[in-house]
Amino acid sequence: MDRKPARRHAPDSLVLLLALLTLPLSGLTAPIPAATQAEGRYIWEALPERAPGPGDSAAMIALGKKLFEERQLSRDGSLSCRSCHDLDRKAGGDGRARARGVGGALGPRNTPTVWNAAFMRVLFWDGRASTLEAQAAGPLLNPIEMGLPSTAEAERRIRAIPGYRPAFEAAFGKGTPIRFDGMTRAIAAYERTLITPDSPYDRFVRGDPNALDATQKRGMALFEATGCVLCHRGPNFSDASAPGGRHPLRLFPAHAGPAEARHPSLRDKGRAGAWRIPSLRNVALTGPWLHNGAVKRLEDVVRIMAESQLARSATLHTWYRPDGTLVKADRRPLGKQDVQDIVAFLHALSSDRLSKASTGPDPGRHH
Ligand code: HEC
Ligand code: HEC
Repeated sequence: MDRKPARRHAPDSLVLLLALLTLPLSGLTAPIPAATQAEGRYIWEALPERAPGPGDSAAMIALGKKLFEERQLSRDGSLSCRSCHDLDRKAGGDGRARARGVGGALGPRNTPTVWNAAFMRVLFWDGRASTLEAQAAGPLLNPIEMGLPSTAEAERRIRAIPGYRPAFEAAFGKGTPIRFDGMTRAIAAYERTLITPDSPYDRFVRGDPNALDATQKRGMALFEATGCVLCHRGPNFSDASAPGGRHPLRLFPAHAGPAEARHPSLRDKGRAGAWRIPSLRNVALTGPWLHNGAVKRLEDVVRIMAESQLARSATLHTWYRPDGTLVKADRRPLGKQDVQDIVAFLHALSSDRLSKASTGPDPGRHH
């Protein structure tokens, strides 16, 4: 776990900070090349076409999909995984601030999308699960999510439904009994197919210069120059992603400030104040935001991040150069236009397919 706001000392961020210091912090207009390969610069990458993990058979994936949509896996038969992770209309989340489980129980946290979860090295807002297989057991047995009393009960229910026996045998081999670990394995296999390499950003990085408009390109440059890439880095826009992610958890908020006071989000301390860095893919489609769904406007999230994660307040801060010398940098808050440009860039991380299917956050369901 990375408890310190590592941006000041981590050697891999020094190059970035240097880049940051050599760029004007506002009024940045220079377009950046499609895949920025220049020495010492941040490298933009498209999402791989396959998620990391074992090659799963078609039968395993089909079984996983069936289980993902199985309402009998909730105590009162009312909810499947898909009830909270609405793959199309809500881009893999539920559009609510906080999840509603069996019997309408209100959970403590926002439902993250399952799209691209297969790229995350650690799962849940606090990173407490490290594989999709381990994660899937969580909601099934969580009393305020699906609320099953035991793994044995999950097995009993699935065994009683015709059709699962042949599906299990197709996935795991003839005579394989229906077991809980097989269920979570198949669900994980299905989740590894839920990936979105089809965003305007991906098309841009793969070589289409017109995939982003001018505002989005400026937002992309600012996303780097402001330092968002210190945490939301790599093809999945999270340092908690595989391959390549190094520091999955960060303090949030790392700096006390007005944002913290405005969003009384912080009674839930995650893991000793640290939270898993979420992916920003499809983030424009999955509001409301943050671990408790407390923030309803993406502009506000960007401001909170700039202030609480990057100390973009009215003060001057010092940064280290690679040669160890200290330099003063202007850490003024982001301007209105800067915030809008970054938001425009975040929209470019939405899958083309999900953008068409999504109905956006559900305003009637905010809590
Ligand atoms: C009642 C709503 C609800 C149901 C039903 C539900 N989930 Fe979730 N899911 C959540 C919430 C809330 C979280 C975040 C919890 C946390 O971080 O503490 C989550 C987190 C996840 C994550 C982690 C995503 C990430 O980025 O870390 C995955 C994957 C996931 N759920 C898959 C599933 C699967 C598979 C099922 C069915 C077995 C399921 N969920 C059922 C609400 C739900
Ligand atoms: C020091 C690490 C760090 C930096 C730098 C950082 N973030 Fe974050 N970001 C996080 C963490 C951790 C969270 C999860 C917060 C939580 O648990 O609610 C997050 C959450 C977000 C979210 C909400 C995601 C969701 O699904 O609700 C957005 C949007 C976001 N960041 C954008 C940005 C932008 C834009 C910047 C640059 C201005 C930035 N972040 C800089 C660590 C960081």
